[in-house]
Amino acid sequence: MMVLVLIVAGLGVVALLMVLFAPHIRKYSAGGACMSMARLDGKTVLITGANTGIGKETALDLAIRGARVIMACRDVEKGEEAAAFIRRIYCKANVEVRELDLADTSSIRAFAQRFLREVNHLHILINNAGVMMCPYMKTKDGFEMQLGVNHLGSSVTVNSVHPGSVRSDLVRHSTVMSLLFSLFSMFLKSPRDGAQTSIYCAVAEELHSLTGKHFSDCAPAFVAPQGRKEETAKKLWDASSELLGIVWDD
Ligand SMILES: NC(=O)c1ccc[n+]([C@@H]2O[C@H](COP(=O)([O-])OP(=O)(O)OC[C@H]3O[C@@H](n4cnc5c(N)ncnc54)[C@H](OP(=O)(O)O)[C@@H]3O)[C@@H](O)[C@H]2O)c1
Repeated sequence: MMVLVLIVAGLGVVALLMVLFAPHIRKYSAGGACMSMARLDGKTVLITGANTGIGKETALDLAIRGARVIMACRDVEKGEEAAAFIRRIYCKANVEVRELDLADTSSIRAFAQRFLREVNHLHILINNAGVMMCPYMKTKDGFEMQLGVNHLGSSVTVNSVHPGSVRSDLVRHSTVMSLLFSLFSMFLKSPRDGAQTSIYCAVAEELHSLTGKHFSDCAPAFVAPQGRKEETAKKLWDASSELLGIVWDD
């Protein structure tokens, strides 16, 4: 009985401290912010998975900076809702939704062909779409879903980002993770905070000629030695090209 009382009292103290320190915790967990005021007038941006979470916030920010933002979404209806949300916040937003299912290489090819026909220049590409901890599923081409969408479907990377732990729909496939995310939501970034590093990499003048780096909290971040091996990167590129049946011109 005594142990139970102590546990309950301990939990009560922790809960009280969390409430008292909530503003500080939120400020700390928000992470870095993109301070660049760069304008993107006349620039075209393509963001995958822009109908929700980090992608939607990134689309909003870049549209406010004057860019033409193409929101590539697998669910066009959800994409249009997100575009309407952005236009409500910024009535001059130049946003358009296009269908792209990264779990289907024929959809990727159709998207790319239309894009090449209709858009002259692409200035910023943000490969944001992704899935996590989904039940075992396969893409239309028979790849495991996470490999297919997160890697093969988005296989162009110039700089990479880790957004931090962000309150978004990403954990939708895992009940345990959804519960943990709700329980500890105070310690997680909002989608707007989570979008900061993507926005920073897209607009920061000092990064214009930088490639092959990894960023977190709007700053260069550590990459494990395994991720820095040129030979491993080449093997992954070759294996991915082979899986997709792509032969590159020299
Ligand atoms: N949240 C985090 O803590 C965290 C941490 C590390 C990395 N990330 C990465 O950050 C990126 C954005 O995640 P988020 O947190 O904003 O998650 P989210 O809210 O779940 O957004 C993911 C986006 O990807 C789209 N998507 C999923 N499968 C797709 C497909 N086959 N084709 C096209 N689009 C597809 C989703 O579209 P639907 O809505 O139609 O499904 C959604 O728009 C992801 O790449 C994720 O891995 C997030």
